[in-house]
Amino acid sequence: MSAVRTVIKGCGGYLPERIVTNDEIAKMVDTSDSWITSRTGIKERRIAAEGELTSTMGAIAARAALDDAGMVPEDIDLIILATSTPDQTFPATAVTIQADLGITQGAAFDMQAVCSGFVFALSTADNYLKAGQFKRALVIGAEVFSRILDWKDRSTCVLFGDGAGAVVVEAQKLNGALTDRGILATCLRSDGRYRNKLYVDGGPSSTGTVGHVRMDGPEVFRHAVTNISEVIDATLQKAGYVSSDIDWFVPHQANKRILDGAARKLGLDPDRIIVTLDKHANTSAASIPLALSTGVADGRIKRGDLVLLEAMGGGFTWGALLIRW
Ligand code: ACO
Repeated sequence: MSAVRTVIKGCGGYLPERIVTNDEIAKMVDTSDSWITSRTGIKERRIAAEGELTSTMGAIAARAALDDAGMVPEDIDLIILATSTPDQTFPATAVTIQADLGITQGAAFDMQAVCSGFVFALSTADNYLKAGQFKRALVIGAEVFSRILDWKDRSTCVLFGDGAGAVVVEAQKLNGALTDRGILATCLRSDGRYRNKLYVDGGPSSTGTVGHVRMDGPEVFRHAVTNISEVIDATLQKAGYVSSDIDWFVPHQANKRILDGAARKLGLDPDRIIVTLDKHANTSAASIPLALSTGVADGRIKRGDLVLLEAMGGGFTWGALLIRW
């Protein structure tokens, strides 16, 4: 029985030029390279230059993904941008990227699920494509968290960085088999009871300000491994696979200890995890497409591989996607 699958055609990433090491951060707040490295695995992060916006970085990543797919902007009829740091409250930053790419057909909108944003956006694109409403989508994650950090709060400012990543996906009619290329299963979750564990203390309807990131780190950590493991299990079950089938685990890049904990719980081989957080810290919705582009560019992720994506973030929101590359 044939089925429409959402197939990944290309991916790309972009990191701002300026590198800020842990030692540099230690000159700003009371912290150290050894504390940050041992608690998180992060060694450095990138910080966007003045005038470098979410849309600027998102458009660069989108162009890289289009090049990788061998496509041109006119091939795209849907853009979903996952971001918590839009250029403006409105219009959606996705339309700025759409205009930058010179695309005038189809639709473009933003999606907000914080660090889970890319997983939510890719799952949304998958459903639109499978329903036949659009044919080819750009799914982008782009963030400038450096502009919503409290640079005096050592418990948060050491954790985040700026960047963007994107994938191009296309609807294809395939066999409907487990061995098909494309997105095989997705699971999304939210639980608003935990919305005050990781949040921004401002917004248009509450304070009229942008606000800063606030987080109860140990509480986030406590829920992360349990939530991530549950949603991965559900996704594998939905697709009819087990964890030993996975070729590459590409998690949201927040904290090495969370990744290792989830991998241990699921019995995943640590050598099969793509880890890039040491180089760019937590870039929220951009982290998964950045890790994907690294894994593809260095030849680890190859066509036919079974790739598992997973994320958890503020809300709480969390989710997973299983893809035959
Ligand atoms: N440098 C030095 N000391 C610090 C720093 C820092 N940057 N930050 C906190 N500390 C201190 C605290 O003040 C505390 O000191 P005290 O014992 O004298 O009170 C001590 O270190 C321990 O603090 P904890 O917050 O309990 O440290 P913990 O071991 O939990 O590590 C961390 C903190 C790294 C934030 C951890 O809780 C964590 O990773 N949580 C998950 C958060 C996360 O990854 N969020 C990203 C977004 S959500 C997501 O994407 C999954």
